[in-house]
Amino acid sequence: MKIQVIHGPNLNKLGSREPDIYGTQTYDSINQDLYAFAQSSEISLDCFQSNSEGDLIDKIQVSGDSVDGIVINPGAYTHYSIALRDALAAVNIPVIEVHLSNIYQRDDFRKKSITAEVCHGVISGFGINSYFLAIQQLLIIHQT
Ligand code: DQA
Repeated sequence: MKIQVIHGPNLNKLGSREPDIYGTQTYDSINQDLYAFAQSSEISLDCFQSNSEGDLIDKIQVSGDSVDGIVINPGAYTHYSIALRDALAAVNIPVIEVHLSNIYQRDDFRKKSITAEVCHGVISGFGINSYFLAIQQLLIIHQT
């Protein structure tokens, strides 16, 4: 099974970015943990990050034709990118949206996800475990 993890804007700064909200684990270390988890579950995983909306859309489009599922943290684009939402709506593979923080406990503008509306489901508020849970769920979907 192949899974594409897509990290949106500012997630490359994890570790130093607002550690009280996002934790102190660095972006590279999070990806290492995701790769190790995938390997132990016999999943072929790739992690991609971009701050650019267009690059994220390109990656979604390519992934739609080349992998079995997508785990995406769209970062702030979650709350306003119709272009990203349209790209996600156009793929025919399961997509799970994840957030490190619980977006429903935060600013009002974060409580609305326009990308989640076209995703299979959302996991929000469990730090890096949000990603692990999403990968596990994609595995379950793939096996059933
Ligand atoms: C985030 C939540 C978003 O509101 C924020 O803009 C991010 C990170 C999260 O993982 O908790 O960049 O997606």
